[in-house]
Order: sequence, then structure tokens, then C-alpha cells
Amino acid sequence: MRVVILPESEAVAAFASQQIVDQVHRKPSSVLGLATGSSPLATYDALSRTCRQGAVSFSDVSTFNLDEYLGLGPDHPQSYRYFMNHRVFSGLDIDLAETHVPDGLCDEPFRACEAYENSIAEAGGIDLQLLGIGRNGHIGFNEPSSSLGSRTRVKTLSRDTVAANRRFFDEGEFQPTLALTMGIGTILDARKIVLLATGEAKSAAVKAMVEGPLTARCPASALQWHPDTTVIVDEPAARLLEDVQYYLRSEEGMQQLLFDDDG
Ligand code: F6R
Repeated sequence: MRVVILPESEAVAAFASQQIVDQVHRKPSSVLGLATGSSPLATYDALSRTCRQGAVSFSDVSTFNLDEYLGLGPDHPQSYRYFMNHRVFSGLDIDLAETHVPDGLCDEPFRACEAYENSIAEAGGIDLQLLGIGRNGHIGFNEPSSSLGSRTRVKTLSRDTVAANRRFFDEGEFQPTLALTMGIGTILDARKIVLLATGEAKSAAVKAMVEGPLTARCPASALQWHPDTTVIVDEPAARLLEDVQYYLRSEEGMQQLLFDDDG
């Protein structure tokens, strides 16, 4: 696991967006796995700026989102499809037909999950998966106790997650407690994973993911098993890490190697 600790959240967004730009430059027809939520917003904004400047194009890219609330359709402002269309894709030169989000209004959720897995496989698998992390260590909507080998399925959201996401819903508005989510096994199949975490509220989850045991109690700890995961955090999110000096030295070494390779 590569752990990149940066002074503040703006630097996290700049670093993460550069990872995605590099991926699309290497392979213009990349399949990207995308996340919603607050964590990747600044990264998406940076991508949109880079795209507007003509320094990257998403015209051949296809995307698969991690998750969607069961019961919310694409026109619902709190649905993840709505978020992606209005907040992310509208700023990129991407073909909307090549963007995929699980269907929150599907009649047969179990079949829809299987079909989602099949579409990812048919697209050739995910080249780069972008992730945030929940305060309880979830990735996607894989709540603590999720099978580390799980595939796309219906999950019940934990009380913590429902409480954390209440901020997006109006008082009295229906807030779903079920979601369709890629499984941990689905996420681990991605060739490259980039996870972002900012702010002190994420520090316990970051500590458990990076330095805790590999356990279903912290679903993100499964990333320790993945051969190419980069965790990008700001200093507040890194606050509880014990081996900070080691991560900083490793990153210095990594930057030196990358610089030597370029020059
Ligand atoms: C979103 C997702 C979730 C979020 C996580 C963190 O598609 O899958 O796992 O990444 O809940 O959310 P924020 O970034 O809002 O703190």
C-alpha cells in the first residue's frame, strides 16, 4: 500500500486528479470506477478544469460507479446518478452512454446486481477505481462485517452511514436504508485503486485501514491485500497513523524513482 500524506485537502485533490489524468493518458479507453460523496468532489473539479484546458479527454473513457440508493431514480437530487450527471459528468467531455451507475429503481435488484458485474467484465474490468472511506471503514456501501470476497449486491446501510449521509436529505425526506453496491471482491479486481480521505473525522478509519488487522470489521483494510493501492490523505486524516515518518520517507524515495525514470 502506497500511503501519500499531504498537508491539506487541496493537495490531495491535485494528486488524485493527476493519477486519473495519467491513467487516461496511458490508456485513453480506460474503464474508471468512480465514487460519490464529499471526498472526491475537489478531485472531480480539478479533472473538469484539466479537461476544459484540453490537457485530457474522457471521450473514450467508460465509467462504473460504486453504488446507488435502492429506491431513488436518476431524477432524484439525492441519487448518485443525479450527482454524477450534474456534478461530475457535465464538466467532462464524456459520452453519457458509457457511464454506468447501478439502477436504484430496478424491478429485480438481485438480477440487476449480477448484470452490473457482467457489464464490468464485458468492459474488460476496471483499470482505476477511485474510493472514499466511511468513518466506519466502509468502501462503497460495504459496511463492517461485509464479506471480503463479496460481489455487487444489495446491502443494508449501517446506522452510522445513515446518520453520516443525513446531511444530504431535507428534514422529513425519505432516506433510503438499502443500496446496491459493488462488493469488496469487485473492488479488489480493479487493476489500480486510489483512495482519498481528508479531515480528522476519517483518522480512525484511515488508521484501521492502513495499520489495523485485515478484517471485515474494517472493510477498507481489505485493500492491504491489493497489489496497487495508493491511499492519499491530508494531515488531519493521517493524525492517528503510527508510521508517518516511514510513509513520508517511502514517498520521497518513490518521487525520486519517478523523477529518475522521467529524466
Ligand atoms: C460513495 C461511497 C462511499 C463514500 C464514503 C465517504 O460512492 O461509496 O463509500 O466514499 O461514505 O463519503 P464522504 O466522501 O461523503 O465522506
